[in-house]
Amino acid sequence: MRRPIIAGNWKMNTCRETGVALVAALKAEVPAPSDSVEVVVCPPYPYLGLIAAEAAGSGVEVGGQNAWYETSGAFTGEVSCEMLQDVGCQWVVLGHSERRQINGESDELINTKVRKALSVGLKVILCVGELLDDREGNRTEVVLETQMTGGLVDVSAEQMASVVIAYEPVWAIGTGKVASDEQAEDAHRFLRGWLESRFDGNVAAATRILYGGSVKPDNASGLLGQPNVDGALVGGASLKPELFIPIIRAGETSVS
Ligand code: 13P
Repeated sequence: MRRPIIAGNWKMNTCRETGVALVAALKAEVPAPSDSVEVVVCPPYPYLGLIAAEAAGSGVEVGGQNAWYETSGAFTGEVSCEMLQDVGCQWVVLGHSERRQINGESDELINTKVRKALSVGLKVILCVGELLDDREGNRTEVVLETQMTGGLVDVSAEQMASVVIAYEPVWAIGTGKVASDEQAEDAHRFLRGWLESRFDGNVAAATRILYGGSVKPDNASGLLGQPNVDGALVGGASLKPELFIPIIRAGETSVS
């Protein structure tokens, strides 16, 4: 059984006050680690320590939205995986499409970060997903294959226990245009097949694959009910407890 994960990517949103209020509301909902759903929030860097302290002991885990691949040194503006851990993070999101597109991150750079994060014991949410052009040009699977191959170079089957894949079609992010249940399931099935051929059947069966892109309370159950969809990476709707909590509940009841 793959325990569903409902993760909130706060992106560059919240302030000290709203972030603390948000995690307090989630903590009230998930006061202790749960066997039926894993909840993760990814606040902006400046608030990570504060939010992690607030969430400590509850069922809410904390992750960074990005990280650098060196431990310390002359890397102005960057934050290391060790620093994320030091302030209480267990997770890091890597390869988000906004970092690929806005910051020009390559699969090679993302892979270097993935390997570093795993080497220090952080769990990784590796994001992949095609552009609208790719989908319309029937290149979705080629893009996913390239991003998976490039992102997971030199990652072992054992290390995959600490890797979660997030399928986020770029055309569905922040647009309100959610992938249909079938489109999500097709992509997730393809990704699981890829994991089987790159690693083995055990890795394919155990790895959680999240869907991200305009997940809202009204579409969460349909998406999360798909056999190969093991959770959600939520942007906009993760900023409001009244939207995020119903998505957590949908995750909880999606275990087949
Ligand atoms: P939205 O849920 O706002 O579409 O964002 C999805 C996303 O990018 C999560 O990482």
